[in-house]
Amino acid sequence: MSGDLRRHAPAAARNRGPILAVLRDWLPAEGLVLEVASGSGEHAVHFAAALPGLVFQPSDPDPSALASIDAWAAGMANIRPAVRLDAAAAEWAVGAVDAVVCINMIHIAPWAAAEGLVRGAAARLAAGAPLVLYGPYRVGGAHTAPSNAAFDAALRARDPAWGVRELEAVSALAAAEGFGPPELREMPANNLMLRFRRG
Ligand SMILES: C[S@@+](CC[C@H](N)C(=O)[O-])C[C@H]1O[C@@H](n2cnc3c(N)ncnc32)[C@H](O)[C@@H]1O
Repeated sequence: MSGDLRRHAPAAARNRGPILAVLRDWLPAEGLVLEVASGSGEHAVHFAAALPGLVFQPSDPDPSALASIDAWAAGMANIRPAVRLDAAAAEWAVGAVDAVVCINMIHIAPWAAAEGLVRGAAARLAAGAPLVLYGPYRVGGAHTAPSNAAFDAALRARDPAWGVRELEAVSALAAAEGFGPPELREMPANNLMLRFRRG
């Protein structure tokens, strides 16, 4: 018996339009884009359909996510089969890429995942190439909205290693791996998009 493997993430359906609008500005017109933590795969499919000059390489550590991504991407020429990738791992099954995108991961994983993401992106991007992040951030030591403070508390109650990250800490991590300071876009629901460029 074979069921429909496609998962649905309601947040992805809500935020994919605003994220795509920024990616149109921030990603190169052509090349290979590694998405880390693709989840259901709905983002990769939406972005690949709208940005036909790019090829997307989705990834996730969760096997059921990989099955969902591949089910959503069936028949699309510019999405590669999803690969298993834990950002915190020393080895990634992906070589050089032209951009790295990661949406809503670093606050729902231990800090080691953020460290690995930045380290792995730095090792695969040429000078000037972007690492693009999306999610909630604390800025200047404070939450940007009460809803983000409540979300942070809920994350930490679920796993003390999780939590909304400090923009300055992520920027320092990126700087230590050779990225420049981030460009910022304010997004709906008190999220931010960050673009770090490899120095
Ligand atoms: C909240 S979901 C976001 C999924 C998708 N990016 C989206 O916005 O719909 C978090 C994702 O991060 C993935 N994840 C958790 N830890 C990770 C790690 N260490 N490396 C890469 N992905 C990770 C999970 O498997 C999950 O798919």
